[in-house]
Amino acid sequence: MQIHENFSLKPLNTFAIAAKARFFASFSSVEELQSLLNTKYFLDGNQPIILGGGSNILFTKDVDGFVLKNDLRGISVVAEDDVFYYVKAAAGEVWHQLVEYCLQHNYAGLENLSLIPGNVGASPMQNIGAYGVEIKDVFHELEALHVKEHYLRTFTLTECAFGYRESIFKKTLKNQFIILNVTFKLRKAPVFNTSYGAIEQELNKMRVTTLSIQHIAQAVIQIRQSKLPDPKVMGNAGSFFKNPTISAASFVSLQQLWPTIPFYEVPQQLYKIPAAWLIEQCGFKGYRKGDAGCNPLQPLVLVNYGAASGAEIIALSQMIIDAVQNRFGIVLEREVNIL
Ligand code: EPU
Repeated sequence: MQIHENFSLKPLNTFAIAAKARFFASFSSVEELQSLLNTKYFLDGNQPIILGGGSNILFTKDVDGFVLKNDLRGISVVAEDDVFYYVKAAAGEVWHQLVEYCLQHNYAGLENLSLIPGNVGASPMQNIGAYGVEIKDVFHELEALHVKEHYLRTFTLTECAFGYRESIFKKTLKNQFIILNVTFKLRKAPVFNTSYGAIEQELNKMRVTTLSIQHIAQAVIQIRQSKLPDPKVMGNAGSFFKNPTISAASFVSLQQLWPTIPFYEVPQQLYKIPAAWLIEQCGFKGYRKGDAGCNPLQPLVLVNYGAASGAEIIALSQMIIDAVQNRFGIVLEREVNIL
């Protein structure tokens, strides 16, 4: 366990932004993490910056602090009952590798979440979701370490207070806990979720007759690869903005002006509008300024064509927020963590 100074974070963030950390160390056991937290720097009250897969973060400047990279590993079945396997995965495991492990063993529930960049530890943080499934649907519990007092705490589903790309770890408990591992309850007999239109279309194209979780994973992977840029090839952090939710009254007036506006009805008589549509209507799909760009296939994703700085990406995102607000009166919220 080595402590580095002025450490380059470029290979550790999927936006591939050149930024440095004043101090950097990675930990591959809870004991290593605890001894790092017992160094003078943290005992003086400084807050660590925890890095997982770096797939939902935008560095806008060098980090004048201590970045701790979570490298905890391990996946195992810790319990089972008639319906579920309880699969525990360490926070530093790569998300898609966990999905592949579950596909190989026929543990059902994660297939719709195939190919999401990032690590296991970030999945409950922002309740990752795609193609009709969110982490909260398969979550059992997680273990986390309290940053200041170093005790371990288990969080149940209810205690995580999951919402759309939200959890208690982004709200009242922000920066207070480091997620160590997550246990998922995965079905022995699959319950397929093909409600998302694109999956059904892809399965038809694949001429699937007897559906399996492996087919769903393949369909999801094909859909993602057809429109989401691979962060290994082009820097990005997935959806940059959340899909906004608006009231029924605002929706009705918008629909009068824009009869083709796409929407999903969500509980409490609210309407979710795809941010990708709003951004496309404002002419940003495929827009590029320097090396900061709006992805030509899915405009909800902002990309780094090579040498964009975090500040340039932020500036582009602000142009988009302003344009959408002027045209539709909707304020887009960034999904990515800005540092
Ligand atoms: N659309 C356009 N123009 C486009 C693309 C999309 O108008 O160029 C509109 C269409 O109406 C389309 C709708 O946007 O039906 C939805 O598009 P898509 O299915 O691609 O999903 P999304 O709402 O843009 C969300 C998640 C993604 C997730 C997909 C699939 C958020 C912020 N994003 O995107 O998550 O993969 O659904 O479930 O909720 C991520 O969080 O990083 C992420 C990629």
